[in-house]
Amino acid sequence: MTTVGALRETAEHERRVALTPDVARRLSERGVTVLVENDAGTRAGFGDEQYRKAGATLGDRARVYRDSEVLVCVILPPDADGARSGQTLIGLLDPLGDPAAMLRLATAGVTAISLDLVPRNLSRAQPMDALTSQANVAGYKAAIVAAAAYGGYFPLLMTATGTVRPARVLVLGAGVAGLQAMATARRLGAVVTGYDVREAAHADITSTGAALLDLGGSSVSSADGYARALTADESAAQQRALQAAVAGFDVVITTARVPGHRPPVLIPAAALTGMRPGSVVVDLAAGPLGGNVEGVAPHSTVLIGGVSLIGPGDLAASVPSAASTAYARNVLALLGTLMPGGVPAPDLTDEIHAAVTVARGGEVVHPVVRELLEESVS
Ligand code: NAI
Repeated sequence: MTTVGALRETAEHERRVALTPDVARRLSERGVTVLVENDAGTRAGFGDEQYRKAGATLGDRARVYRDSEVLVCVILPPDADGARSGQTLIGLLDPLGDPAAMLRLATAGVTAISLDLVPRNLSRAQPMDALTSQANVAGYKAAIVAAAAYGGYFPLLMTATGTVRPARVLVLGAGVAGLQAMATARRLGAVVTGYDVREAAHADITSTGAALLDLGGSSVSSADGYARALTADESAAQQRALQAAVAGFDVVITTARVPGHRPPVLIPAAALTGMRPGSVVVDLAAGPLGGNVEGVAPHSTVLIGGVSLIGPGDLAASVPSAASTAYARNVLALLGTLMPGGVPAPDLTDEIHAAVTVARGGEVVHPVVRELLEESVS
């Protein structure tokens, strides 16, 4: 019988868990042995006892590594190199961000499967689309973080002391997270405007009830439906236009990303000084490589000319129960296709299997990750 082992996340701000008790139970019912690291779900609100009741066995980290054929995690564990030849590691491994780590896994003989690479436009793959499930959570929380940091109300209020005007919120980037941030800010009563460089996203923006910020310029979608990176000239023009536009808003939430690239800078530092003191900027894209706002850092808030610039880190990790529940279902759906007979057997002729398999048989097999590795050598 195959053993699927869930590792506890060890990163400081990471509170999610890859398997919930509900998914542990479903796997057990399919005849899979489920091993869960002690305390793996505690920070997401799932106690060890709940896993035991769901049919899982609890154990320490060494045991999970030793006894599992399949290891599941949320983000790449720092000790992933401890996985052994023949083991399968499944998670949001960020293979485009850290191709060298994928090479190390391949060299160790580990089969690396990354949920970041689930094809987004394949309906059969939608239950496995962890990027979407986690971005939804992050976008929702971004609006909450912005509302909590803002010194005014989001909604229009009629009070005995007069009418309070609603907050004006601008969301940059209308992917999954951005659209969810728009919808949530609107539910809180703000007057919301959205912007994206892809023309295809404009109808999505207006469907949330947000107004569209149109900066002109041509649409820059690539064939896979993602935005492409802007040229230096396009980027400079965009920054100039946004510098003028952001001054009219109380709250700006940025969510722009281009897969495989560092996040594009949309707002130069100088633009913040043009905003009203008390305004709030939340940069969802802020990470170790920078973000959408010049000078932002993850897990930090800085005050620039009275404007709060917030780099919240991965916000899905801060709504751990909802994010883990969705993520564990994504993992379950992926395991369902990868282990049809209860044994992991990626079939590279299957579109989904081929898309998510990064390393196998001692080699990095994913073409984009291979390209990135070759570029880093040359
Ligand atoms: P993402 O997290 O990669 O990027 C967020 C947004 O930033 C995107 O909308 C992108 O166009 C925008 N962006 C990038 N550079 C920008 C710039 N310089 N200025 C302004 N905006 C910029 O996006 P996400 O949420 O992962 O979605 C990416 C694509 O995948 C979209 O086309 C989305 O519609 C598609 N998708 C399709 C699904 C389906 O067909 N079932 C499910 C989920 C996503």
